[in-house]
Amino acid sequence: MQGLDGIVAAETVLSDVDGANGRLVIRGHPVEELARHATAESAAHLLLSGFFNGGPAEPDAFASAIGKAREEVFEHLSNILEVIASLPPVEALRAGLALLPDGHDFPVALRLLAAPAVLTPAIIRLRRGEAPLAPAPDMSQSADMLRMLSGVEASDASCRALDAYLATVSDHGLNASTFTARVVASTQAGLGSAAIAALSALKGPLHGGAPGPVLEMLKAIDAPHKAEPWLAGALARGERLMGFGHRIYKVRDPRADALKAAIEELSKAEARTSRLALAEAVEDAALRILKRKKPDRPLETNVEFYTAVLLDALGFPADSFTCVFATGRMPGWIAHAREQELTGRLVRPQSRYVGPATKQAA
Ligand code: ACO
Repeated sequence: MQGLDGIVAAETVLSDVDGANGRLVIRGHPVEELARHATAESAAHLLLSGFFNGGPAEPDAFASAIGKAREEVFEHLSNILEVIASLPPVEALRAGLALLPDGHDFPVALRLLAAPAVLTPAIIRLRRGEAPLAPAPDMSQSADMLRMLSGVEASDASCRALDAYLATVSDHGLNASTFTARVVASTQAGLGSAAIAALSALKGPLHGGAPGPVLEMLKAIDAPHKAEPWLAGALARGERLMGFGHRIYKVRDPRADALKAAIEELSKAEARTSRLALAEAVEDAALRILKRKKPDRPLETNVEFYTAVLLDALGFPADSFTCVFATGRMPGWIAHAREQELTGRLVRPQSRYVGPATKQAA
């Protein structure tokens, strides 16, 4: 009851999360297929199709409309980037989104899709003392995001890995941030309001704030043989192991394997040293210890564990991981917000009063 466990609060055509069998289907496509073949733009196209008058157009035109929207967002926000970059990255992203005009139509959706891809690298660069780079509207969202981050054109393998990530996390049923987006959208407040509220929900460590702490954990453990004592110590102190456990999945989160495969592809193509070997050792040790300490709870690896390894390998700093997650989840938030708006029904559940009895006036 406290966490609305098991309550069905919406009907959706967008994604189907089968927690018992560890399957995720996004508009008819298994997540593993999207991770292998989709781009940020094609995943957004899949989710948004049918929800707006006037868009999305056929895929190529849609991709170039997102590119133009990146340019528009950069022009609109370039004067305030330095001010917002003094905030932690996810709060800076929220502040940037709040400065975009709100509304219900397709251009609003395009700017929301573009904004995190522009703001995230700009905020990261400013925080490390570098000037933000203007978008290149003809590039793909992933290629442009990586170029604006590092200042050089990213390899095809890196762009493919980021596309795999952004498509994998593009939608996931009625998670806390998407539910938030739907509640706000149901008041007809606008898509921007829904997205900002969703981002505020995403930022918590029990939801999309987990991958930064996962990377901190991997860094603290440092070597495979130190995993077991480190993890046992954390559990003995009553801490939760970040990147493990899920409200819906009672088996392994299918996105964990989709992302692990993307990291393996990236490592193969570029012979780069990611923290993959260490992560595998930590995962093994964590699953063993969790089984021992909580035998009645099916606690398995969730999406955030390999998110941390992948985004680290792509050069994103740990404190920006939630912003990259928001870049990937934005199409899902917008599609759910539209789906809710179009029902025309305000979300308004009830609470049961358990406070003091009414006092009678003396
Ligand atoms: N480490 C240790 N113990 C855990 C963990 C964990 N990661 N996750 C759950 N537990 C324990 C709880 O302490 C609790 O134990 P108790 O019954 O002895 O008190 C029990 O398992 C609760 O299990 P659930 O009811 O299945 O967990 P819940 O649905 O409340 O939580 C959540 C799900 C929030 C994701 C949780 O597993 C967690 O905090 N994980 C770590 C943070 C994390 O990885 N977040 C990202 C989730 S994925 C996403 O949002 C994109």
